[in-house]
Amino acid sequence: MARILITSAIPYINGIKHLGNLVGSQLPADLIARYRRARGDEVMFICATDEHGTPAELAAAKAGQPVADYCAEMHAVQKALSDGFRLSFDHFGRSSSARNRALTQHFAGRLAENGFIREVSERQVYSPADGRFLPDRYIEGTCPNCGYDKARGDQCENCTKQLDPTDLIEPRSAISGSTDLEVRETKHLYLRQSALRDDLEAWIESKTDWPVLTTSIAKKWLNDGDGLQDRGITRDLDWGVPVKKGDEDWPGMEGKVFYVWFDAPIEYIAATAEWADANGLDEAAWRRWWRTDEGAGDVTYIQFMGKDNVPFHTLSFPATIMGSREPWKLVDYIKSFNYLNYDGGQFSTSQGRGVFMDQALSILPADYWRWWLLSHAPENSDSEFTWENFQASVNKDLADVLGNFVSRVTKFCRSKFGEEVPAGGRTGERAAALIEELIDRIRAYEGHMDAMEVRKAAGELRAIWVAGNEYLQSAAPWSVVKEDPERAAAMVRLALNLIRVYAVLSEPFIPDAAAAMLAALGTDDRSWPEDVPAALAALPPGHAFATPDVLFRKIADEEREEWQARFAGVRT
Ligand code: 2FM
Ligand code: ZN
Repeated sequence: MARILITSAIPYINGIKHLGNLVGSQLPADLIARYRRARGDEVMFICATDEHGTPAELAAAKAGQPVADYCAEMHAVQKALSDGFRLSFDHFGRSSSARNRALTQHFAGRLAENGFIREVSERQVYSPADGRFLPDRYIEGTCPNCGYDKARGDQCENCTKQLDPTDLIEPRSAISGSTDLEVRETKHLYLRQSALRDDLEAWIESKTDWPVLTTSIAKKWLNDGDGLQDRGITRDLDWGVPVKKGDEDWPGMEGKVFYVWFDAPIEYIAATAEWADANGLDEAAWRRWWRTDEGAGDVTYIQFMGKDNVPFHTLSFPATIMGSREPWKLVDYIKSFNYLNYDGGQFSTSQGRGVFMDQALSILPADYWRWWLLSHAPENSDSEFTWENFQASVNKDLADVLGNFVSRVTKFCRSKFGEEVPAGGRTGERAAALIEELIDRIRAYEGHMDAMEVRKAAGELRAIWVAGNEYLQSAAPWSVVKEDPERAAAMVRLALNLIRVYAVLSEPFIPDAAAAMLAALGTDDRSWPEDVPAALAALPPGHAFATPDVLFRKIADEEREEWQARFAGVRT
């Protein structure tokens, strides 16, 4: 039994996430967490909300709420939606927690002691009208690179160039709109990433099994003139982790907070401590996942994230960990994703374009979305959501193939043999061929899941479902039963057992359908089909079952057109 630590990039608190966000980290992380648990591994699966920084402050101001209240409310909303999508986090934490505050201050203190922090006096935009500095998104203006007139102080959304607030042309305050801005001196802390360059490079070079997407981004930033620049890790904001050196005050840094990207990844660790607190466990319980000197030596740590997050996870966060010179667990494998586009354009939170998690669940249950999103995960390139493709996948894969198999087998059995696994008879050559095919395909499926090749795994699972249908079609127990009911009984017994195997194999993708299949079969036996022939005899003759309701319904053309129209515009 292996020990697997899995973290998903933690979503910003400001608003409900869209399906592109979901498939970029949380959903594939859940797939692998469920799979590893099903294979008997000990799994710790962690996520949280990313609550600091200007996005949170600005969203709270827009909602007319104190930022702490806004975050508490939105955390509950995001938690309910992640439950709705059946994301099986062991803990869904909050980066504004006391645990994260203490750990963030701890890391900063260690980095300072080890000489990896320098204090810099720098020029920042100050707004007399607002009575404050305007870091990051507090300032808007025209992008010097592409001319887009709503570029933010940290990045231009149009051309993605990373910016400094002082780069903007015709800058204005995002709070008051004031253009009466001045530049003032203020002191900040910089993380000396460049001093850790050799350590980072050697570490990245040693990760020969990482996906190309992850490694190419990591190396680009490592070798780019810009990439390993020392980074400002503090801000002139009210909301955030107060700048301290461990428990001690940091002279000259009064009233400042750490930059959101400094404390956010530390929340992976902190959320595991929050998990221990929530479950009444001691310090050792979470430290055995994170401290290599306290048991984490045998942990495999996997991170999931969208490609825009890769530089922070391959350079800045490892620099924080390495620079602490303490034995914290570094990530072993980073699974990153490209973008999912929406119907000919981009999903956009700021423009409200696309389908958001709450909207998705309001029209169809989680499994429909999980299946489409995972089977079309943007692994090797960007991928695109279209309503036609969604309708086609649901109707074909889920309704016609898997759903139909379950329904035909159970209904046929009920009508000819009653609602229990029939006894007697022997299956023939077709069944033997099916079992051979299943053995090959199940081993291939495991291989793809072990390698975290999500689309390939989905393709193999679909082929496993198809194999059952084809067997049923060619064995045709409904014809055989007329002359040889015993042989038909044996076919049905095999097929009923195959439903259980399908439930177990499919659970990481479609957990609700899997639970419904097992419930209908009247079994809790979730054991993995290590030995396929044995797994296909797990439900013995006489075992009672109940014919389930329709597992997946089809999406009608009119419905699809209605959704297409409803989600064509922007969300208000
Ligand atoms: O891009 C985002 O949504 C960030 N909130 C991800 C942070 S991941 C980590 F560093 F915690
Ligand atoms: Zn631009």
